[in-house]
Amino acid sequence: REKYKILLRDMNKTAAAYFHYIMRHTEHGKKAYEYFKGRGLSDETINQFGLGYADIYRDDLYRYLKGKGYTDAELKDSGLVLIDEKNGGSDKFWNRAMIPILDINGKVIGFGGRVMGDGKPKYINTSDTVVFDKSRNLFAMNIARRSRRKGFICCEGYMDVISMHQAGFDNAVASLGTAFTFGHANILKRYTNEVYLAYDSDGAGVTATLKVISIMREVGISARVINMRPHKDPDEFIQTLGSEAFEERIKNAESAIMFEVRMLSEQYNLNDPEERTSFHNETAKRLAQIEEVLERNNYIEAVSNLYHIDKSGLTDLVHKYGIAG
Ligand code: UTP
Ligand code: MN
Ligand code: MN
Ligand code: MN
Ligand code: MN
Repeated sequence: REKYKILLRDMNKTAAAYFHYIMRHTEHGKKAYEYFKGRGLSDETINQFGLGYADIYRDDLYRYLKGKGYTDAELKDSGLVLIDEKNGGSDKFWNRAMIPILDINGKVIGFGGRVMGDGKPKYINTSDTVVFDKSRNLFAMNIARRSRRKGFICCEGYMDVISMHQAGFDNAVASLGTAFTFGHANILKRYTNEVYLAYDSDGAGVTATLKVISIMREVGISARVINMRPHKDPDEFIQTLGSEAFEERIKNAESAIMFEVRMLSEQYNLNDPEERTSFHNETAKRLAQIEEVLERNNYIEAVSNLYHIDKSGLTDLVHKYGIAG
């Protein structure tokens, strides 16, 4: 079993080297190289992340790996190749800019492939295999766990992580999409209890952030939220405003609770007395969950100041909802 995992990781590593070679040494590959360059990546970053290109041919990787002695069954289990009874093997990734996914020990276990342009789907990823469990791997954790920066920055995307690392934020990792799990949280928790969230600033990203905050809270991580506005994600932010501006946003990251209350506030028309009352009630429910007395009082103070709520009124309401703990 363990031997088979090693074989599958070796195969993925061979594929990563192949994709990288194709990108750097073939005419077709130039397109992917130019794509990454066009997204602001340096040669150093391209090499550090082992980026590459999956060519337009339907089975070139399949034939290459067959030539290395792998069997159809092994190739199929790697997720790199699709085996069809009638037509034989064909590559999963086809004409895409390739990003290797490494496990926490730095072994290649899968890939993300990005279409170079506006096609759909934007990314294709290796499906789960014996060595790749999406819910238990954080992209770039192999690097981030050695970072000297404080805590981790957790975001959605490949390009977000790569841009952040290039800008010096080498404590950035991605859950690769918005599906953050307890598995992810427990990995982070092994190293720190401080995590910055940098999910996209669109609706899906905000929903994800709220979900991630509650998972983090359950495992005992205190999360802070980085505001990327007016940009959509860390990659766009850094490519436009640069690393110093991003550092500033990290410094000003909002505590999870203030973020949650702010998101609540945006659901109500605070000029309408009835809606405003609902907002106060929902906020009080949230604040009542804070177990530490001083911490709870500090948040009651901060929230009443920010939203112009009578402090003793809010305190009463919080008590009405029952104090946790
Ligand atoms: P986004 O749609 O926010 O894309 O998805 P992005 O990362 O900003 O992509 P760029 O900057 O246009 O290249 C965030 C993450 O969700 C996963 C990928 O991991 C992606 O990085 N995703 C997204 C997929 O797996 N498939 C998709 O089709 C889209
Ligand atoms: Mn191919
Ligand atoms: Mn998104
Ligand atoms: Mn994005
Ligand atoms: Mn992006």
